Amino acid sequence: MTTLVTGGAGFIGSRLAMALRQRGEQVVVLDNFNDYYDPALKRQNAAYFDGDPGAVVIEGDVRDAALVERIVQEHRIERIAHLAAMAGVRSSVEQAALYYEVNVMGSLHLMEAARKHGVRQFVQASTSSVYGKTQQIPFIETDTADRPLAPYPASKRAAEVLAHSYHHLFGLNVTCLRFFNVYGPQGRPDMMPLKVIRAIYEDQPITLFNGGDLKRDWTYIDDIVNGVVAALDRPLGYEIINLGCGAPISMTEFVDFIEQLSGKKARRINKPAPLSEPPITYCDNSRARRLLGFAPTIPVREGLTRTWEWYNNLHKL
Ligand SMILES: NC(=O)c1ccc[n+]([C@@H]2O[C@H](COP(=O)([O-])OP(=O)(O)OC[C@H]3O[C@@H](n4cnc5c(N)ncnc54)[C@H](O)[C@@H]3O)[C@@H](O)[C@H]2O)c1
Repeated sequence: MTTLVTGGAGFIGSRLAMALRQRGEQVVVLDNFNDYYDPALKRQNAAYFDGDPGAVVIEGDVRDAALVERIVQEHRIERIAHLAAMAGVRSSVEQAALYYEVNVMGSLHLMEAARKHGVRQFVQASTSSVYGKTQQIPFIETDTADRPLAPYPASKRAAEVLAHSYHHLFGLNVTCLRFFNVYGPQGRPDMMPLKVIRAIYEDQPITLFNGGDLKRDWTYIDDIVNGVVAALDRPLGYEIINLGCGAPISMTEFVDFIEQLSGKKARRINKPAPLSEPPITYCDNSRARRLLGFAPTIPVREGLTRTWEWYNNLHKL
């Protein structure tokens, strides 16, 4: 069984590819190692597979339709976890065309190759931010999610909708997973958990929007990986499934907790939230529990403690 993991040098993709290898499955990683954040971190992630005969790492771009098709054909790919994406809400506001080229056209090329070469299961990484500023809280999959607040979630919603047509026309099994605020050791340096930890560590100011009132449903990396593996294992026709912890906390509580862990005070700067930021993300994960046996095990304080300890061990405060 060979699984193609696009974005497999990134934060979630690399952990997923490692988990699949630990189960003895073959993986092909496709990543373009772009510089949205320090590519050295992606090189480090990919280096895990050096010398592993069960893993192939390919440096390439999901916008290259011919390359994508060649990989799916030559490696006899049976399952695809499509995680490659431009993934920043705020950066998408200034680079909307790039976000659409990668997140929509890249997904299209993968679905096209998947249907031509009989791929059995396609997992599409989506995001809680498709819900925008919905009034339905917690966020539930029956929400139309057609009012995204920025090009990034709009592109992710477009890919979900496109996937439906591939299921309808060609019978491609697609599960779109809406991840909620994923964090953990080796996490993304552009996201709040590592930004807050780094700022406190280096005694730098940290910007909090709306006085720290924004609430986010932080979901630990291992729980997300378990959910993606379960989705790969279970073709379900066409499904959209929330994958999140279901326990949001405010940024104020979040920073207070990192202060407790570090014994240091954060230098908080207050700014109004940009229009692209929703006031809350909050996952109703009952569908994931029912269809995937999803059961998040790491509460946010436990996950933040692990993340803090990882950072602290690296930098020795
Ligand atoms: N981290 C989160 O909280 C979160 C939340 C919701 C959804 N997601 C989604 O999960 C997926 C993985 O996110 P992540 O946090 O690991 O981000 P990440 O940026 O660490 O990983 C994405 C990877 O995709 C690669 N990539 C980008 N454009 C590419 C292209 N054109 N061709 C090939 N590779 C390309 C990047 O180099 C990167 O390694 C993304 O689809 C993202 O939108 C993440």
